[in-house]
Amino acid sequence: AADQVREYKRQAAEFAADMVQDGMIVGLGTGSTAVFLVEALGRRHREGLRFLGIPTSIATEKLARSLGVPLTSFAEHESVDLAIDGADEIERGTLNLIKGLGGALLREKIVAAASKKFVVVADDSKLVDHLGADCLVPVEVTPFGWESTARHLGRLGARVSPRRSPTGQFFVSDGGNLILDCNFGTIAKPADTEDAIRRIVGVVDSGLFTGIASEAVTCGPEGLIHVTV
Ligand code: A5P
Repeated sequence: AADQVREYKRQAAEFAADMVQDGMIVGLGTGSTAVFLVEALGRRHREGLRFLGIPTSIATEKLARSLGVPLTSFAEHESVDLAIDGADEIERGTLNLIKGLGGALLREKIVAAASKKFVVVADDSKLVDHLGADCLVPVEVTPFGWESTARHLGRLGARVSPRRSPTGQFFVSDGGNLILDCNFGTIAKPADTEDAIRRIVGVVDSGLFTGIASEAVTCGPEGLIHVTV
């Protein structure tokens, strides 16, 4: 079954990799699905496609470099033509997302916000009717005063726990921040929740991505499904 899911992820990612056109600046996502994207783009680069990637994490940057994928940064380029990234949950119909279980949510969101088009890729088990019922919302917070920030998040109705590494230390994001995993239960109005979280002092951003993805490529037993909202 795990092999089958990997295969679904690969097919969705490769379909999206084919959306990259000559001359594009491409946001490179993070996670096990995005690995297939970066591998496919490595192949397309070797076949002669010209594009530049902006990686959303140190892990993706390392992988891209190892495959010879040419990279750039926001110092050289103002916007991203197409960003392709995975997600942990995708709300059917709206394509609102929960992301960042991998801990790279801040860079992912910066790249997403700079993108003209954001395509989410996933196996179809990530599709849900309502976000949050089975998935924690990661919130990236500054280390100073995190306990206070956590209490504010609690007042929004979340059960909050700081993410820890396997050795028990606080998990530190690529941006040097902490991650508070928040259990909101079913999120009725994701855009309102995203705004309310962002208004709390000490919050850098959250893994709720509302109104950002305009397309989804998912794959499952029924094959590939490409939807646009
Ligand atoms: C990384 O921080 C995440 O946002 C990933 O994009 C998300 O967790 C999806 O990962 P998988 O493709 O590994 O499921």
